[in-house]
Amino acid sequence: MHLDSILLLASKGILDTIEEGVHIVDRAGITILYNKAIETIEGLPQNQVIGKHLLDIFPDWTKENSTLLTVLNTGEPIYNREQSYLNFKGKRIRTVNTTIPIFDGNQLVGAVEVSRNMTTVTDMTKQIIELQQKLIKPVKRQKGIKQYHFDQLIGKNHKYLEAIKIAKRASKSSSSVLIYGDTGTGKELFSQSIHFASDRANMPFIAQNCAAIPENLLEGLLFGTSKGSFTGAEDRPGLFEQAEGGTLLLDEINSMSQTLQAKILRVLQENYVRRVGGNKDIPINVRIIAATNEEPETLIEKGQFRKDLFYRLNVINIRIPSLNERVDDIPILVDFFIREYNEKMKKDVWMVSDEIMEAFKRYNWAGNIRELKNFIESAMNLVTDDHVIGKEHMPSHVSEVLMKKERYIPTQTTTVDDLNKHLESIEKDIIDKTLKQYNNNISKAAEHLKVSRQNLQYKIKKYYE
Ligand SMILES: Nc1ncnc2c1ncn2[C@@H]1O[C@H](COP(=O)(O)OP(=O)(O)OP(=O)(O)O)[C@@H](O)[C@H]1O
Ligand SMILES: [Mg+2]
Repeated sequence: MHLDSILLLASKGILDTIEEGVHIVDRAGITILYNKAIETIEGLPQNQVIGKHLLDIFPDWTKENSTLLTVLNTGEPIYNREQSYLNFKGKRIRTVNTTIPIFDGNQLVGAVEVSRNMTTVTDMTKQIIELQQKLIKPVKRQKGIKQYHFDQLIGKNHKYLEAIKIAKRASKSSSSVLIYGDTGTGKELFSQSIHFASDRANMPFIAQNCAAIPENLLEGLLFGTSKGSFTGAEDRPGLFEQAEGGTLLLDEINSMSQTLQAKILRVLQENYVRRVGGNKDIPINVRIIAATNEEPETLIEKGQFRKDLFYRLNVINIRIPSLNERVDDIPILVDFFIREYNEKMKKDVWMVSDEIMEAFKRYNWAGNIRELKNFIESAMNLVTDDHVIGKEHMPSHVSEVLMKKERYIPTQTTTVDDLNKHLESIEKDIIDKTLKQYNNNISKAAEHLKVSRQNLQYKIKKYYE
């Protein structure tokens, strides 16, 4: 058999095993390839389509609504077009299609369409949005969940007090606020304190981490969805509407795409939202607090934060200092957390030993207050009758890091567990040093270590929490 024929048969075989639908037509619009996946998506057997003209099979298609016909007409590719339609079996199908013209030299000879079936993903998306919205209840109505107020923000460091002063001023107005602080510095606490000290205190406070969910879901979640739209078949209010009268915290705002950032900007400028797929403008009155854990200027430079949105949000700007910048606050924070856990754990601890306090002051707190709080919590779990937390109360992996002793090097590796611990301690050490070198700037440290920012963030969470 000729090599070309073998290759052709092989590609047909491959095309029948992949999950994406593939539909190829020639210049005249006659189908020459229709793979198994597209058969399932459209509910039509191959033999009814191959060799026939598109309009004989799909009489309702026009140059306007058919991407294949459009591409044959224009010779221009169409990328990632969302489509929703009833297939031949009457099932509602949602796909994302990319349609590309095929050229022989500069002569258009046909077009190929690759369709990704999003029906299941879309159904799951809908369920996730529904579940998430059930979970979101305004803080004030969530019994048993702690609300934070300014008087619970522990700290006397002058930079910290300065940040609190600005935040208190912010609670007197409804202007947008941009909070910048490393992970664990208290951005959520600040946001809640601003909300509960403002005249919006009796209205909802909703926090959404923008990095936590995929972009197309986030848009529906924030703005709501309208019946029949791509992301959800039902009418559902978004977080902007749900936070009506209150405050919406958009955490890690820089993880949104530029397009979504532009949509947020429009909402802020015009004070109304339009649900995804809807055509009604719904007026809203929501105070926006946006947070980032990287310096906004750096994010703008890297193209991750739109300048126009930054200026719009940055009406009030709060920078929360990292714990390394407020070492003088460590003793009162330690004292505060000891009291808190005494109460929770029914213990009677008074203080940490001088040795531990000195180590705390030397330590590089990449996880900031959250990390300090977790240190105290794990130590207090090990305290029985003592009143002073010493090295012996720190879990060994913690005290090793804390005391900055010579790294633990096993003379003989006996188990996989030992080896993992050893490797982790080396990794943590390297991360520690790099973070220190870059002043806890995660992006820069990640760049230096040649890992992705997400990966480094994950490791920081793993080692410091
Ligand atoms: N000044 C403070 N006094 C007491 N506890 C604090 C203070 N600041 C932060 N904490 C505690 O530190 C932890 C982290 O705070 P929070 O969740 O607000 O940080 P964050 O900046 O939002 O972190 P992330 O960037 O990881 O979302 C919480 O457990 C909080 O209670
Ligand atoms: Mg947070």
